[in-house]
Amino acid sequence: MRLDKLLANLGYGSRKEVKQLLKNGAVQVEGEVIKDAKRHVDPAAQTVTLYGEQVEYKEFIYLMMNKPPGVLSATEDPSGETVIDLLELEDQVYEPFPVGRLDKDTEGLLLITNDGQLAHRLLSPKKHVPKTYFAVIDGEVTEEDILAFGKGVILDDGYETKPGELVILKSGIRSDIELTITEGKFHQVKRMFESVGKKVVYLKRISMGPLKLDETLELGEYRELTEEEVELLKDYQVK
Ligand code: URA
Repeated sequence: MRLDKLLANLGYGSRKEVKQLLKNGAVQVEGEVIKDAKRHVDPAAQTVTLYGEQVEYKEFIYLMMNKPPGVLSATEDPSGETVIDLLELEDQVYEPFPVGRLDKDTEGLLLITNDGQLAHRLLSPKKHVPKTYFAVIDGEVTEEDILAFGKGVILDDGYETKPGELVILKSGIRSDIELTITEGKFHQVKRMFESVGKKVVYLKRISMGPLKLDETLELGEYRELTEEEVELLKDYQVK
């Protein structure tokens, strides 16, 4: 990444101010004064200092977002906004990406990190990391649905899902439910309900493995994971 961009994104001033700092000889990379704003640096591997003070750059960043509806959980979307666009520049500088996908209209817990290894472990189909969703269903969810989901249902493309744990919170012409699944097939929750003739009208993820959605986060807000949450995720082993 360009040195001026790095420093500006980390909050050390505007691009113009940062260029002036560089011109003044205030910035060193690996102990060498660098005045060239265009110089490319790898902040994870190289030490950058400003007036002798090390520029704070951590290797990994772990963010929890309460994803709002209407944005894509991707790093790029030519036709609209992504969850990455909602991050402050000082977080974008770490080049994080969402761990797994939520549909555009789905809300709730989204982990965003640049830790590829952790993401890989959480997403691996072999690991069966449980994900719990709260949903509002158009239709009456019944004990039969609990039994059907408990065995696994056949989706529209013939795929038989792994068992899911369905809990009915409120049953009526509109039902509130929680569903825990251990896979992440495309539109899985919506398609599981379709397989029993019902429609999901609202969907929100509330947990992923040991990570629970921080309900104090408004839609579109995010925060860094606590050290404890990061440890829980790293140590997480599915039983
Ligand atoms: N299942 C869905 O149908 N959509 C999501 O966004 C996540 C799980």
